[in-house]
Amino acid sequence: MSDFYNKDIISIKDYTRDQFEDIFQYTEKLMKLDSAARREICKGKTLSYLFYEPSTRTRLSFESAMALIGGNSLGISDISSSSTQKGESLADTVKIMSIYSDVLVLRHPLDGSSRFASEISSKPVINAGSGTEEHPTQAIQDLFTIKKEKKKIDGLKIGIIGDLKYGRTVYSLLSGLGNYDVEVHLISPESLKIRPDSIYEIRKKLSFTESIDIEEYIEDLDVVYVTRIQKERFPDEEEYLKVKGSYLIGLDLLKKMKEDSIILHPLPRLDEISTDIDKTKHAKYFQQAEYGKYTRAALLGLTLNENGF
Ligand code: NCD
Repeated sequence: MSDFYNKDIISIKDYTRDQFEDIFQYTEKLMKLDSAARREICKGKTLSYLFYEPSTRTRLSFESAMALIGGNSLGISDISSSSTQKGESLADTVKIMSIYSDVLVLRHPLDGSSRFASEISSKPVINAGSGTEEHPTQAIQDLFTIKKEKKKIDGLKIGIIGDLKYGRTVYSLLSGLGNYDVEVHLISPESLKIRPDSIYEIRKKLSFTESIDIEEYIEDLDVVYVTRIQKERFPDEEEYLKVKGSYLIGLDLLKKMKEDSIILHPLPRLDEISTDIDKTKHAKYFQQAEYGKYTRAALLGLTLNENGF
């Protein structure tokens, strides 16, 4: 039976390296299948989504992944048009949505929201971003992108740049990278350094440097993972304005980077990567978004089929 069958996907910390490698293999398999064979994988199955925060890629990639493998999707992306507006609780909303579907995808501003939903839902719950700590399917997509583009993960030098305090993709990615032998350099403004309490466990598996100077390691990096400053999570707008635009990956900086380095970003990008970079061979963030569709399709296929696909 598939390790993933009928299981929730709540935290990246729940997975082993072998399980990541399994997911990558299934993703590769799915990418090679013809469209008719893909549509058999989740034929007749329904995904529901419930998004309490804005999203473009995560929600649409789940929806397009489900269509790719023959299933369908329904859901709520605008909470103000749902009964939440009338005061319905998350618990009741989750209960109802799990009646109407085979798997529930949830994004919510609170840490622990997906774990809570999984205790209520009769169907598997997939965390599509909770609070500031977890975004497991993004981390799987990021690791897959690194492996696909660099042909390996072990041995790489990886820089993670930007909002390391509030960016949940960073915490999930660091946890995932803890299963590999990598050298990590964290680069952020002083006030947006990684939260020590949230990486207590990660620190046991992964060593990294912390710096505020983007130029310090730039010429050694194989992967440059850039993140958006998470304006909506700042308690005070003044604090945001102080760090807004702290880093810019532009053509000048690119000249200092390794010939075969790649630039990733979970997106949305604001001004942290210049659009001049988009046409260079280093820019892999749109490719990364495309891989997100396939990794999510693989995860759905594994969650909804007893013996994989
Ligand atoms: C991220 C998120 O929601 O955490 N977006 C995404 O899912 N790709 C990153 C962000 O909003 O900056």
